[in-house]
Amino acid sequence: MLVGLGAVSTTFIAGVMAVRKGIARPIGSLTQMGTIRLGKRTEGRTPLIKDLVPLASLDDIVFGGWDIFQDNCYEAAATAGVLESSLLEQVKPELEAIKPWPAVFDRRYVKRLDGPNVKKGANKMDLAEQVRADIRRFKKDNNLDRLVMIWCASTEIYLTETEAHQSIEAFEKALQASDANIPSSMVYAYAALKEGIPFANGAPNLTVDIPALMDLAHQNGCPIAGKDFKTGQTLMKTIIAPGLKARLIGIQGWYSTNILGNRDGEVLDDPESFKTKEESKKSVLDYILQPDLYPELYKDVCHVVRINYYPPRRDNKEGWDNIDITGWLGYPMQLKVNFLCRDSILAAPIVLDLVLFMDMAKRAGLSGIQEWLSFYFKSPMHARGLYPEHDLFIQLMKLKNTLRFLKGEELITHLGREYYD
Ligand SMILES: NC(=O)c1ccc[n+]([C@@H]2O[C@H](COP(=O)([O-])OP(=O)(O)OC[C@H]3O[C@@H](n4cnc5c(N)ncnc54)[C@H](O)[C@@H]3O)[C@@H](O)[C@H]2O)c1
Repeated sequence: MLVGLGAVSTTFIAGVMAVRKGIARPIGSLTQMGTIRLGKRTEGRTPLIKDLVPLASLDDIVFGGWDIFQDNCYEAAATAGVLESSLLEQVKPELEAIKPWPAVFDRRYVKRLDGPNVKKGANKMDLAEQVRADIRRFKKDNNLDRLVMIWCASTEIYLTETEAHQSIEAFEKALQASDANIPSSMVYAYAALKEGIPFANGAPNLTVDIPALMDLAHQNGCPIAGKDFKTGQTLMKTIIAPGLKARLIGIQGWYSTNILGNRDGEVLDDPESFKTKEESKKSVLDYILQPDLYPELYKDVCHVVRINYYPPRRDNKEGWDNIDITGWLGYPMQLKVNFLCRDSILAAPIVLDLVLFMDMAKRAGLSGIQEWLSFYFKSPMHARGLYPEHDLFIQLMKLKNTLRFLKGEELITHLGREYYD
């Protein structure tokens, strides 16, 4: 179940349908194409991840979701303009059959949008009950065993934790009172967790990253994960920064700018939604570079992030990074990155992997924050008192070691055999 049937969701859904039909390949998906080494290097055991752990098959997935617009998924995919019509035509009947359920939406939290397909209710608890009814109906009508919910809707305005978020009790009172501290995304997350369903957050909104919903996730045995799919410029940042740091190359400044012309770009043109995104994008370097440990190299890095809404580019974002670096004896150098990326093409395989891994995590009895899925997020949720891990390579090691652990396989440390044999 997808909250928001926009560019990312429809690219994901149409993509899975195309892969099922053998029309296209699931490039970028670890669950579909990734392998995992098991045991010693000499053993030569490297199965596909999907052959190691029991993941649901693509053929078994049924899609549903909410949106404030009434367009079915074929129309929404055509509006998003990510996939070519030659591909969409081949999965048209299946896409047309997916029609959004009325959304929980309030313009206070997404100022640049408005749409007609919206629920009405006595208060926010009533809206949550309506979402729960949608979930149950979807499950029954399609005879489903298990469900996962993913937030792929627009980025909400920047909110911070308040009293209403501190306990399940306070949160439920706030729902009854339609407290302004409960945005739409929290209403969906609450409904999912009450139904015992894993919830992942693809946007940077606070949503499930509050004590009340973390407690509810544990209470009901639900995995949760977030926030903000790691695609585009931030993906590159978490690939390049660990490399520079590994070689102790100093960084004085990192200037990142983007042009983006899709609906996401339009929403992010609002300063309050952009603030949520900016927080998510900016924290990455601080954690990777560890300026406290390396003040000479990384203290006071001037990190600037800009997103400019530029409609002609639609979903094909262009990002420019200028990185001012210093080498031996303090000599300055520059690195320039120009990334012409397709946002939703990078996000869709992340949605797929999260659906399959979150479903597996639930069956494996894992509940609460799934830090091993940090690999997929710009702003990974983490246990209180710990810091998030942003380095893509550490994140991948953690993900694969978690899979090995779940299957009772030896964890891989990359310590050479000459050291421990
Ligand atoms: N594409 C990427 O690479 C990427 C990366 C990280 C995060 N994200 C985030 O993922 C989200 C989706 O991105 P997109 O490009 O698909 O955007 P989009 O604007 O195409 O789609 C979002 C959809 O959500 C709907 N929506 C908004 N509020 C809603 C609500 N309360 N309930 C139900 N539907 C609602 C909108 O009508 C729209 O159709 C955004 O928040 C974006 O910031 C995207």
